[in-house]
Amino acid sequence: MLSNLLLLVLENPTVEFVLKRLDTIDKRRLENWYERSTHIAEKFPTVLETFLWCCTDGEYAADTQNPEIFIGTFESKAKELGLSMEILSNLFFTHATLFDDHKSGIAPLKDSNVPLFIVFEGLDGSGKSTQISMLRDKLKLMGRKVYVTAEPTNSATGGLIRDTLSNNYKREPSELAGLFLTDRISHNVNPIWGIKKILKDGSDIICDRYYYSSFAYQGLGSDLQWIIDMNLNCPQIIKPDLCIYLDVDPHKCKKRVDSERTHLEIFENDEKVMEQTRMQFFEVFKKLNTTENIRVIDANRPINVVADEILTIVMSLIKRSD
Ligand code: TYD
Repeated sequence: MLSNLLLLVLENPTVEFVLKRLDTIDKRRLENWYERSTHIAEKFPTVLETFLWCCTDGEYAADTQNPEIFIGTFESKAKELGLSMEILSNLFFTHATLFDDHKSGIAPLKDSNVPLFIVFEGLDGSGKSTQISMLRDKLKLMGRKVYVTAEPTNSATGGLIRDTLSNNYKREPSELAGLFLTDRISHNVNPIWGIKKILKDGSDIICDRYYYSSFAYQGLGSDLQWIIDMNLNCPQIIKPDLCIYLDVDPHKCKKRVDSERTHLEIFENDEKVMEQTRMQFFEVFKKLNTTENIRVIDANRPINVVADEILTIVMSLIKRSD
């Protein structure tokens, strides 16, 4: 289906050439993709031209990672097509979801106006903050409301947790698991900054760490199944639509935290522990792979390649209307 279209684009990026070879189903999918953003019916060659541009010049501008080139290229194309920047960005960021090889995982698809709850996981130094802000900016460009949050939170319990992370106050892994659970419940139910409230208000949520971290970090020194049960069976704690695990070589992570932090937290001190934690994440993902939507991303690759893959996965959670 549309993967074949990509080949045609690479062979000869002219509208007529590709148009002749498109079947009816592909045409309908392209039209749906375009109409969902623009809300106006256009002549099909414009739809196709926009798609071809996304696959070629649009991709090229994004690949440069230079915001000036990106904005400049998008602004002039938006003007030429008579679209707003927001609509063209939306089309660009979603065009890859039309390829057949980008299917969503086990999560049920959501209507485009229903907010998403996305969690990022990974070792310290795996690049979560960078990827989170890149995803946030792209979703915002598409006109979505986005709220970025993190665990541990800034609640009173979060303070107790930080005392232990910074090695000022020692606690057993099971005590820490209990504190993270309490903090997570507040994170879900707080009437002002809680996850449920923010989702209800229509914002997507991107959360830096969630219960998967408790399974990996506290699960290493305490009873894993007990930690899984108390989190997954807690009625106040909701399940994310997607967990993205940024997989980076622990040696690289350790080097990054050593160069970026002045004071190391307890889980950042020892490369061996980081290796064990990574293995524990994988153990946990194996256990949860039929019930949670977890995607492991090879984040040793260049930042923009990783960001593109993440966006494609996120976009594939949203229902297409074909
Ligand atoms: P981190 O993402 O490193 O935050 P910061 O950038 O503010 O230091 O998270 C802090 C640490 O907390 C990290 O080493 C992993 C640990 N952690 C757990 O051990 N269990 C959990 O449930 C969570 C959410 C985090």
